[in-house]
Amino acid sequence: MSLETLHKEMSERLKDLVPEVEIRHKAELVHEINQLKAERNAVILGHNYMEPALYHFIPDFAGDSLELSRKAAETDRDIIVFCGVEFMAETAKILSPDKTVLIPSDKAGCSLAESITAADVRALKERFPGVPVVTYVNTYADVKAESDYCCTSGNAARVVEALDSDTVIFLPDEYLAKNVARETGKHIIFPSVVSRAGSEFQTEMDYQMIGWKGRCEVHEQFTVEDIEKIRSQYPDVVILAHPECSPEVTAAADYSGSTSAMIRHVEKTQAPRYLLLTECSMGDNIIAAHPNKEMLRLCSVRCPHMNQITLEDTLNALKYTRYIVEVPEDIRIRAARAVERMSQIG
Ligand code: 13P
Ligand code: SF4
Repeated sequence: MSLETLHKEMSERLKDLVPEVEIRHKAELVHEINQLKAERNAVILGHNYMEPALYHFIPDFAGDSLELSRKAAETDRDIIVFCGVEFMAETAKILSPDKTVLIPSDKAGCSLAESITAADVRALKERFPGVPVVTYVNTYADVKAESDYCCTSGNAARVVEALDSDTVIFLPDEYLAKNVARETGKHIIFPSVVSRAGSEFQTEMDYQMIGWKGRCEVHEQFTVEDIEKIRSQYPDVVILAHPECSPEVTAAADYSGSTSAMIRHVEKTQAPRYLLLTECSMGDNIIAAHPNKEMLRLCSVRCPHMNQITLEDTLNALKYTRYIVEVPEDIRIRAARAVERMSQIG
């Protein structure tokens, strides 16, 4: 596609979201990225939280963590450029060890991934021997390597229910764990808190899930008061909350699901207006694709890690083959087992 046609398409799609002066510059970057992508036999995967110009114009596939991990496993290109955060790019490397996996910024972390180490998981396994460990994909490869199964927000309850075990260690997101416990009717404990109180809980309590106190720094900000305020102003609003929000927030919302599940819900329903309790860019991305949907904004909330991934850096990733994602082979093999077990469950 010529630069002029691309510019026209981008202006049309992004007209209410990006100032026209910026669109020309972004169109030039997108044009160069797409040319280089073809020359280098690369595939670009983009998470639903990417900013609209990037999200709508450069990825070969866009989606939630689960969908992108599947695409990463299937690709036959030489290079995967992952427009998302580090744990996602690592998952791509875990599943496609022979490909060069690039992440455009080396500063795209995640508060959940930072919340737990492989040593923490080993300590929990010693404390609760024989209990299967389910780890959210929002963790680094060495943590996945200590786990029996991975899960994403799209299949967490399914993975927990598929296990033939009365008890599950579910790490590291406190709120996702509580949401899964509620969905599956399980009773959850957080052992570090209980042990500080010094009680002899291990053999006496009736628990089926053992959690960890990690949190997403974006989703923990949404409150039930936010929901009440918006509903009092707009009684007909449909509110969607990501399962990394607190269980009080997901219970007060109308729908909860992974980022792609929320997008699909907006696409297939006809509410007068919607509010997404998740990272801000997703609302913009939906507006760009469906200008007649009304999306309310509660938008002080941009993930500082996802925000690191820009068109400029994506171009530089392809130009300079940076930043290369590496996972030591012994860790990769064990982490791949946990990710593949998740994929078998679905
Ligand atoms: P999804 O898997 O639902 O896309 O979520 C990823 C994420 O980082 C949410 O904060
Ligand atoms: Fe991590 Fe939250 Fe950002 Fe997702 S939105 S990458 S969970 S900090």
